Amino acid sequence: MKIYRAKDYNDMSRKAANIISAQIIMKPNCVLGLATGSTPIGAYKQLVEWYRKGDLDFSEVTTVNLDEYKGLTPDNEQSYYYFMNENLFSKVNIDKNRTYLPDGMEENSEVACQRYNEIIHSLGGIDLQLLGLGHNGHIGFNEPGIAFEKETHCVSLSSRTIKANMRFFLSEEHVPRQAYTMGIKTIMSAHKILVVVSGEDKADIVRQAFFGPVTPPIPASILQLHNDVTIVADEAALSKCTDVEF
Ligand code: GLP
Repeated sequence: MKIYRAKDYNDMSRKAANIISAQIIMKPNCVLGLATGSTPIGAYKQLVEWYRKGDLDFSEVTTVNLDEYKGLTPDNEQSYYYFMNENLFSKVNIDKNRTYLPDGMEENSEVACQRYNEIIHSLGGIDLQLLGLGHNGHIGFNEPGIAFEKETHCVSLSSRTIKANMRFFLSEEHVPRQAYTMGIKTIMSAHKILVVVSGEDKADIVRQAFFGPVTPPIPASILQLHNDVTIVADEAALSKCTDVEF
C-alpha cells in the first residue's frame, strides 16, 4: 500500500487525476473502474480540464462504475448514471457505449447482478479501480459485515449510509433502501486500486481501515491485502495517523 499525503482536497484531486491520466496515457484502451460520492468530483473536474486542453483522450477508454441505486431512473438527478454523465461522460470524448453502470431499473436483482458480472468479465478485468471511502468503511456499497468473496450483488443500505447520503436527496425517505454494487471480490480483482479520501470526518476510518486488522466489519480493510493499492489522502483525513509510518 502506498499512501500519498495531499495538502488539501484540491491537492488530493490533482494527485488522483494525475494517476488516472497516467493510466490512460500508458494504456489508451484501458478499463477504468469509477466511483461516485463527493470525494472524486475534484479529480473528475481536473481530468475534464486536461481533456479540454488536449492533454487527454478518452476515445478508447471503457468504464465500469462501482454501484447504482436500485429503483432510480437514469434521468433521476440522484442516480449514479446521472452523476457520471454530469461530472465526466458528457464532458469528454468517451464513447457512451463503453460506459457501464449496474442497471438500477432492473427489478430482478439476480438478473441485474449477473448481467453486470458478465460485462466486467467480458472486458477482461479492470485496469484501475477508483474508490472513495464511506464513514463506516464501506467501499462501493459493500457495507460492514459483507462477505469478502462476493461479486456484484444487491445490498440493503445501512442506516448510517442512508443518513450520510441523504444530503443529496430531498429528505431521508427519498434515499433508496437498496443498491447494486460490485462486490469485494470484483474490486480486489482490479489490477490497480486508487483510493481517494478527504476530510477530518474520515480520519478515524482511515486509521481503522488501513492500519487496523483486516476484518469484514471494516470492508475497506481488505485493501491491505491487494498488491497494488495507492491511497491519496489529504492531511485532515490522515490526522489520526501521525504516529504510524508510511
Ligand atoms: C457512497 C458511495 C461510495 C462512496 C461513499 C463515500 O455511499 N456508494 O462509492 O465512496 O459514499 O462518499 P463521499 O465521497 O461523498 O464521502
